[in-house]
Amino acid sequence: MELPSQCPWSRELRAWRFSAILPCSLLMPMSEESPLEKQTPDALMLFGFWYRALPSNSVKRGELRAAMLLEQPLVVGRDPQGRAFALRDACPHRGMPLSCGRFEGGEVECSYHGWRFDAHSGQCTAVPSLVVDQKLKVDRIYAGSYPCEERDDFIWVFVPDPGPPGAGFTKAAPAPVPTPEIPKFSERYKRAYLTADLPCSVDHGIIGLMDPAHGPFVHQAWWWRSRHSIHEKQKNFEPIPYGFRMSAHTPSSNSAPYKLLRLYAKADSITTTIDFTLPNMRSEIIRAGKYWFASLTTVTPITRNRCRIDVVAAWNLFRWMPFGAELLKFVFAKFVEQDRRTMEMQSEGLKHNPHLMLIDDADRPAKWYFGLKNAYLEMKRNGGEFRHPLDRPVTLRWRS
Ligand code: FES
Ligand SMILES: [Fe+2]
Repeated sequence: MELPSQCPWSRELRAWRFSAILPCSLLMPMSEESPLEKQTPDALMLFGFWYRALPSNSVKRGELRAAMLLEQPLVVGRDPQGRAFALRDACPHRGMPLSCGRFEGGEVECSYHGWRFDAHSGQCTAVPSLVVDQKLKVDRIYAGSYPCEERDDFIWVFVPDPGPPGAGFTKAAPAPVPTPEIPKFSERYKRAYLTADLPCSVDHGIIGLMDPAHGPFVHQAWWWRSRHSIHEKQKNFEPIPYGFRMSAHTPSSNSAPYKLLRLYAKADSITTTIDFTLPNMRSEIIRAGKYWFASLTTVTPITRNRCRIDVVAAWNLFRWMPFGAELLKFVFAKFVEQDRRTMEMQSEGLKHNPHLMLIDDADRPAKWYFGLKNAYLEMKRNGGEFRHPLDRPVTLRWRS
C-alpha cells in the first residue's frame, strides 16, 4: 500500500469547491411540486457525526495544533506512538486554550497553572498547586475529549451533541459509528488530497458540491469543455440510509476520471456510483475492470459562515503511464480553483441576504439535502424514525 505522507499539491491548492470530479453528475428527479421552491440554507450544523479536522501531515508528533469544527475549538495532537488525539481547546480550570500549552509524555499541560491532562481521555492527572493534605479528586476532572481516528490522510474527529450550556466534561463516550473511509479495490494504490477554505456556510458549500448545472459556465477549459457543450442528461437516483445515490451508470463523458479511464478500458465497461450521505459526504467510485478510482469529498462546517472542502482520492491507475498521477492532480486542482473562485464571488452576493430559489430538476439534489437535514434534526428533536425525503427511486433530467 502506498501512503504518501506528503502530498505536494495539497498545500499550494488552497482553493476550490466541489463538483470537481464530476461536475455534472449529482442530480435529482422531477416531481409534481412547484417548479420554484423556497428553500434557503439555514447554516445549522449537524452534531453526532465524524468530521475531518486536519490533514494528517499538518500534525507532527509532540506538537499541539488548534482547529475548529462546528464552532467548537479543538486542540489536536499526536502521542509518542503517533496516535492522534483531540481535546476541547479550553482548560476546564479557567479556560486557557490548551493549544497554548505543551505536550509531554502523553499528557497536555496547560500553560496557565500547569494542570495536566491525559491526551486521549482528557482526564486530569495533576494539579500542581495542591499541597499534600488537600484532597481535590483530580481524576474526576476532565478536559473535553473527542473520539479521534486517522483515515486516508486526515485526522477525523467525532463531534457529539453538545451538553447543556455551562456543563463540565466527563469521560467521552466512544463514537457510535465507524470512521468514514475510502473503499479500496486493490493492494496497491495511490492517494492524494486537495483542501480549500470556502467563505460560506456549510449548506452553500454542499449544494454547490452537488450542483450539476454550473459545469458549462464555471468549468470551461479548452481541453475540457466550453459552454456550447451543454446537453440534456438523465440520471437515476435512489434513497440510501441518510442519503441518496446516483445509481451505477456509465459516467458522464465530461467527468475527468472517466476521460482518463477510457485510456484503460472500453467506455461501456466503465461504471460509476455517486453517493451523498449526511452530514457532508460525497463519495464516488469508478470501476473499469481491474482499474478503479474512488474519492471521498467532505464539506466541513468550521463556523456558521465558513466551511472547508476536502477531497481525498485513491486510485490504481497510471502505474505505467508517465505523469498520469500528475495529470489527474492537475485536472482536480483546476476544478477546485474554479469552484472556489465562484464561491468567493457568490459569498459577496450572499452578504446582503438575497431571496434564493431552487428549481427542478437541476436543484433537486439540493432539495433532498435540505430534506435529509431536516429529517435528521427532527428525529433528534422528537425521537422516532428518520423520515427519508426520498421514498422511491427517481429520474432527474437537466441540461449541463
Ligand atoms: S487555566 Fe489551565 S491550569 Fe489554570
Ligand atoms: Fe464545480
